[in-house]
Amino acid sequence: MPIYTNKIVIITGGASGIGAALGRELANRGAVVVLADVALAAAEAVAQSIRASGGRAAAAALDVTDYGAVAALVQRVRDDYGRIDFLFNNAGISLAGEMRYLELRDWNRILDINLRGVIHGVQAAYPVMIAQGGGHIVNTASINGLTPLPLAGPYNATKHAVVGLSATLRAEAAGLGVRVSTVCPGFIDTPMKDNMKYVELDKEAGQKALPFRLHPVEYCARVIADGVAKNKGLIVITPQATLLWWLWRLSPSLFSWITSLAASQSRRLRAEGRL
Ligand code: NAI
Repeated sequence: MPIYTNKIVIITGGASGIGAALGRELANRGAVVVLADVALAAAEAVAQSIRASGGRAAAAALDVTDYGAVAALVQRVRDDYGRIDFLFNNAGISLAGEMRYLELRDWNRILDINLRGVIHGVQAAYPVMIAQGGGHIVNTASINGLTPLPLAGPYNATKHAVVGLSATLRAEAAGLGVRVSTVCPGFIDTPMKDNMKYVELDKEAGQKALPFRLHPVEYCARVIADGVAKNKGLIVITPQATLLWWLWRLSPSLFSWITSLAASQSRRLRAEGRL
């Protein structure tokens, strides 16, 4: 039987972008998906469109920064459906800007959502999965969790932390029947680039300056679904992300030199009013 058939899946951040595409992909593969998001109306619209095309989906209001709410959702899904087979800790935000311009609240907000949100999901679902004798936790990091790309200090910090905690959890959980995967997408075409905060950078110019083409979100969802089905520990998505990761491991000093040039270039363009 295909791996997702009749499986109970929670996807945080399921109202938009990668989470919504993943919801559609997994529902197409036979799963029952719960799309949990702060944006409830948008999550409901995605669930409705999945149901309209014959899939099984529900929406739930969830703020991943609130541990009580995450634990309550996990409990409710377990009570309603009998078990939780997959938890995708996917909700996340981004932030672009040099660290010298950031305020402490910028750091705290991204730490709360990208890192504490994942910790909350693990803390709530891992004991349930151990008790039921299996399950799969999938944490979304980023290529920024594997390489220190410039102008993204807080984002990089949270995503490196997600890579670290997930790899450790995968090793600890293996003997307990629970699987853990980390997803590291490269640059994917989602609303995130428009919703994120740009600090002392022009949004449009910043988006134009991106040296990589954005990949379609449906492709990203397919690669995630396939990688998780194979129980891959680390799922790196897009050829550019693979290249960046390879370059970082081959020569950290060359990588740092290139990214310091990129940071200087962005300062120069900003001084000229072009970024
Ligand atoms: P998106 O902005 O399209 O979707 C993110 C979703 O998370 C939104 O529906 C938003 O309402 C939800 N969300 C935000 N804060 C929340 C909170 N406190 N509680 C619950 N839900 C919350 O972004 P996208 O691109 O789909 O990102 C999904 C994940 O993929 C994020 O973790 C992001 O860091 C990661 N990622 C995205 C990449 C990209 O190029 N788009 C590349 C690498 C990683």
